[in-house]
Amino acid sequence: MTRTDKVLPSAVEAIGNTPLVDLARLTSGMDGRILAKMEYLNPGLSKKDRIARQIIEEAEVEGALRPGQTVVELTSGNTGTGLAIVCAVKGYPFVAVMSRGNSMERARMMSALGAEVVLVDQMPGSKPGQVSGGDLELVEVATQKIVLQRGAFRADQFRLQGNQRAHYLHTAREIIHQTGGLFHAFCDFAGTGGSFAGCAAAFKEHNPSIRCFLVEPKGAAVLAGEEVTNPNHRIQGGGYSMVALPLLRPEHVDGYLKVSEAEAILTARRLAKQEGIFAGFSSGANVAAALQLLKGGCRGSTVVVLLCDSGLKYLSTDLWDSSSPQQ
Ligand SMILES: Cc1ncc(COP(=O)(O)O)c(C=O)c1O
Repeated sequence: MTRTDKVLPSAVEAIGNTPLVDLARLTSGMDGRILAKMEYLNPGLSKKDRIARQIIEEAEVEGALRPGQTVVELTSGNTGTGLAIVCAVKGYPFVAVMSRGNSMERARMMSALGAEVVLVDQMPGSKPGQVSGGDLELVEVATQKIVLQRGAFRADQFRLQGNQRAHYLHTAREIIHQTGGLFHAFCDFAGTGGSFAGCAAAFKEHNPSIRCFLVEPKGAAVLAGEEVTNPNHRIQGGGYSMVALPLLRPEHVDGYLKVSEAEAILTARRLAKQEGIFAGFSSGANVAAALQLLKGGCRGSTVVVLLCDSGLKYLSTDLWDSSSPQQ
């Protein structure tokens, strides 16, 4: 069932089947194409709706989630919004545990969707809008405590296979279908690494010569084996300086790309102005990385990226304030 050709039973079935758009204005004059999957058109305005649905439905099938049981998860806001939607429709109370460093639009949106939002203070010295791995550890501790207190189901996005499976079964297959399988590379900014893991697995199965690149913030490229010099970057949703991401399979990684905050921000602004696409920091990072590929080793090829979430989630930040400094 696609989401546009019939009446759907609920918003949960409206998740996925997002359009794929050629960024022809942004790549004008360049040798190659960038195809962008508009994940910000999901009901919760991000790709994470997909994993929320997959994780909850797998837990229902496995009996890990009982009817009416509370669901809890640590979130930078997008997984929580997806879970809030799925839990609202399916009747599970949901508690979202989030760092105070993430933008407040997210907390408000989750509350509006019926979630209980628990905000965790950042480490001393951390700044709002810049969530580090250390900040995330504090959120993890708070999450574990709440899960125990409430006898809840933990929709653990860093560990549960439903995360990568959502992208393996759906995001990647939609892309293969939409392109007729005719593309050469994929690059993705990693948070949990679930999107990369699921898409790379499906792409390699379809055609082992499709090259898959992990994208990290400059100064926090631990997966590429570099030292962390800027843990408090502004590219929300990933780049947490976590050396081991349980869902990632190293054999699927063909290379690592680094994107500065300034590149991510400038590219998000170009997406808005030139392509009419209003997306967030990490979407800017993905497109900036794809532009690097077209200028470098993947000249002449077609690169696929995900546009992870909506620019609306960053109205309170300086992403759209073109007078603000980018570094
Ligand atoms: C805005 C945004 N971009 C990128 C990511 C990273 O995606 P993944 O966890 O699949 O690596 C996330 C994850 O929460 C996100 O919210």
